[in-house]
Amino acid sequence: MKNPLKNIRATVEGDWAQYERFLRKELRSDSPYVHSILNYVFANRGKGLRPLLVLLCSALNREERPADQATFIAAMMVEMIHTASLVHDDVVDEAYMRHNHPSVNALWRSRNAVLTGDFILARCFSVGLGSGQVSIVTHITRCIDLLSEGELQQNCHSQTLSLSRQEYMEIIYKKTASLLSACCTCGAMAAGADHDRQRAMKFYGDQLGLAFQIRDDILDYLPGPTGKPHLNDLRERKITLPLLTVLETIPAARRHKLLRLLSDVRSTPSNAALIRDEVIAARGIEMAEAIMDEHLQQACRALDPYPASPFIEALVELTRFVGARKD
Ligand code: FPP
Ligand code: MG
Repeated sequence: MKNPLKNIRATVEGDWAQYERFLRKELRSDSPYVHSILNYVFANRGKGLRPLLVLLCSALNREERPADQATFIAAMMVEMIHTASLVHDDVVDEAYMRHNHPSVNALWRSRNAVLTGDFILARCFSVGLGSGQVSIVTHITRCIDLLSEGELQQNCHSQTLSLSRQEYMEIIYKKTASLLSACCTCGAMAAGADHDRQRAMKFYGDQLGLAFQIRDDILDYLPGPTGKPHLNDLRERKITLPLLTVLETIPAARRHKLLRLLSDVRSTPSNAALIRDEVIAARGIEMAEAIMDEHLQQACRALDPYPASPFIEALVELTRFVGARKD
């Protein structure tokens, strides 16, 4: 399948090729067994949005200077943390498909998937700290507790079935936007950008990241080639923005009915489709899309201080990609 980010990646083609070599060299094991799992994980990795953001934000702030080790370390760390979190997430969610292929837990069992995630995370830190890039490593590290905290908060809300808009935004910031934001900030840091530019990059990443997770939450409601089972969030009793906006706008009696359907979804899985139909009829998808679009516009506004360049074009194009992506 063609990578939808291929054209955007062409803007930093040389850096990307160097990054791929760097990653391959650092993520290896002398054990053929471990090596085969790592190979499988990286052969079936995602689109590479996070390392691409690092390379683009670094190039934007470097002005013609070649990328140095700090940029590749940051790109490697965000990709490894993201990959380890997905390997663990599939164990936690008991999910057997990832990126259209069987998950690591499906092929090697949960115990080996947990250890593979641990290995990737450990390698990420040994390479990161060994490089001496302390401020970049410190900044990226802060995301790991946010990721885990966001996931735990989400689980808590799927037990209680109560969620405010503010709590939803906090969860999606922690579980998704924080790492995308760190990609942009660390790309700028690696390029030696000043404080104002680092802040502009952080704001772009925050907004892009929030929109990215909102799009993910919308996609769960739409049948299509996401590589993930349809209505998974509802089956896990997760209230996400399409349902949340509907719950905020309908009368109390209908709200209670919807929450009752959600509360029983584990014993009656067909409730998920009933909730989806209500959400679609009450225009929850459109309301969530409007909120996502606001964040994407804010992301573009963060780029205003920069003069036009192919890297700015690529970052704007990425906002369009995030808003329209199908998987
Ligand atoms: C996917 O979310 C998963 C995450 C955004 C983060 C998961 C984080 C952990 C499991 C904490 C452990 C972290 C590390 C670094 C080991 P999702 O379930 O909403 O999306 P999905 O549908 O793609 O699974
Ligand atoms: Mg999951």
